[in-house]
Amino acid sequence: MDQSKNQVTAPITRQQSHRDLLRIVIVGHVDHGKSTLVGRLFHDTGSLPEGKFEAIKAMCEKRGMPFEWAFLMDSMQAERDQGITIDTSQIWFHTEKRDYTIIDAPGHKEFLKNMVTGAAQSDAAVLIVDADEGIQEQSRRHGYLLHLLGVRNVAVAVNKMDLVKYDQGRFDEIERDIRSYLESIGVSPSFVIPVSAREGDNIAKPSDNMPWYLGPTIVQSLDTFPTPVSPIHLPFRMPVQDVYKFDQRRIIVGRIESGRLSVGDTVLFSPSNKTVTVKSLESWPEVKGKAKTHAVAGESVGLTLDEQIFAERGELISGTGNSPIETDVFRARIFWLGREPLKIGARYKMKLATGEANVEVQSIEQIIDTTDLSHSGATQVERNQVAEVVMRSRRLLALDEFTALPNTGRFVLVDKFDIAGGGIISMEGYADQRHLVTQKSTNITRVENTVSSDERAMKNGHAGGVLWFTGLSGSGKSTLAVELERKLFERGYHVFVLDGDNVRHGLNANLSFSPEDRAENIRRVGEVAALFAGAGTLTLTAFISPYRSDRDRARLAGEGAFHEIFIKADVATCEGRDPKGLYKKARKGEIKDFTGISAPYEAPDAPELTVDTSAHDIDECVAQLIEYVEANFRAR
Ligand code: ADX
Repeated sequence: MDQSKNQVTAPITRQQSHRDLLRIVIVGHVDHGKSTLVGRLFHDTGSLPEGKFEAIKAMCEKRGMPFEWAFLMDSMQAERDQGITIDTSQIWFHTEKRDYTIIDAPGHKEFLKNMVTGAAQSDAAVLIVDADEGIQEQSRRHGYLLHLLGVRNVAVAVNKMDLVKYDQGRFDEIERDIRSYLESIGVSPSFVIPVSAREGDNIAKPSDNMPWYLGPTIVQSLDTFPTPVSPIHLPFRMPVQDVYKFDQRRIIVGRIESGRLSVGDTVLFSPSNKTVTVKSLESWPEVKGKAKTHAVAGESVGLTLDEQIFAERGELISGTGNSPIETDVFRARIFWLGREPLKIGARYKMKLATGEANVEVQSIEQIIDTTDLSHSGATQVERNQVAEVVMRSRRLLALDEFTALPNTGRFVLVDKFDIAGGGIISMEGYADQRHLVTQKSTNITRVENTVSSDERAMKNGHAGGVLWFTGLSGSGKSTLAVELERKLFERGYHVFVLDGDNVRHGLNANLSFSPEDRAENIRRVGEVAALFAGAGTLTLTAFISPYRSDRDRARLAGEGAFHEIFIKADVATCEGRDPKGLYKKARKGEIKDFTGISAPYEAPDAPELTVDTSAHDIDECVAQLIEYVEANFRAR
């Protein structure tokens, strides 16, 4: 090892290369062969520094031991630690197609922290599984790590095939297991490859020992992964940093995070949702006599608009197509650094690009211990833990998913002036709310009714209104709604039930159960219920309406006549009832996005009334509802 110490290891470093680059991370159970695979990859692609292989070989011979690939990596690691190689932070290998760097993961903690905060990012991953031992708990956890970080390009190396005599049956078994596990967590491996890193089977050369395997080698599989798109080719994003007033002009300044911008482009400001055209681009220092017409990712620019709009720091500028998501709720994977643990209900200041917003922790879905990646369902996140959380803000935020646009899909949380955590955004299970709040038509004017709601209430003997039943499927919404409708009708009420299953046969027949379609379902029903209420009818709605944001919008539409009624029964109770047999199907994976099983249900935090159907029978619940209606709607 000593001989190579002072060598400048040119092939490992990558200076001013114009070749494409892919950053990969290699994960897997400790003993499943990571170092051997890395050693092989370097050797078989001809990427090792000269003399390195021979030096290790000689050393092993001198000590009378078999050649050990892992020593190669240990020796390179030692050099890096001593700062001997030129670029000490990363190591490189290359194929004919491009260069590769291995993002080192000295420990999960550092790795997760670097990925989440943006210090390191990997474009692809190799997950190693031992053919002899099979999938271990740690293999699952590493698989989960890839899911957590949204790494989409994954190859699985089923290593040590030599130990199982290159048996196809054994490989098929492991392939089936690993695919079904990874797919269950939303990771779909592009390749599952039988290899022996020690013997060099299917690393860079196809194996003669496994003629039954016709797929690519590890190197070929890596070469098929797409080279990451340069930020210039991604959708345009420019967070507003400041607005300067120069003579008559207002100049909006910021750094272009992705994409490109030209004078004359129509741009959208979010979340204010205003569209304008770029009149000029300003740059400093000004180039005399040469007006700037284009700018690309990485540049800081100023722009003037064809129209004066109120824009402020924190707004996100984009093109009109492919705009950022507007939402008041999102899912995040966070790395927590705060002195105080992160708790449900706690508020933090979130900084995303140039924007700041107050956010509240709505729920903690999962906590991942960074030492061994085990999961737990604890209720608070301690320092140095990673967690999946759902965050909510009072107003709409403009943001992106991390996997689509890392720079505007990542944020920092501040607790009492200290940075307390970093996070990446995923919208899994949540809808973009932009189209729900964007009015498309112009030149419309409201017409006032000549009959007032008071007159209607006098005539009907009760006020119109909306009783918005929300709860899981099987909680009893429809049962109670139709029962209440009958009882109120008999008492002389003008009453009508709008039911989810019914409305989905007509008005909303074109909507599915995706988060976007559910949001649209509730938007329409919220508006229809408000119209019914305006007509003087007491309107009972029975929709799961799992999202708080959607129900809050229905409340706004109802203008004071909206009453949120939480039909309370937990998943276990509803599943026990399963009147339509849907839970059973959902558990079998036959219904996707099923509320409570594979899609979220956000219980109301301050409903006007809670009816607990797991503790009371139907008659008791109906009586409770009648009492509520008589107290709140009867005209006196
Ligand atoms: S909502 O989420 O958009 O409010 P809605 O109340 O209209 O749902 O419809 C719920 C009804 O649709 C359920 O009672 C059930 O009968 C049926 N259904 C079919 N697929 C699903 C699903 N994936 N999740 C929930 N309910 C479903």
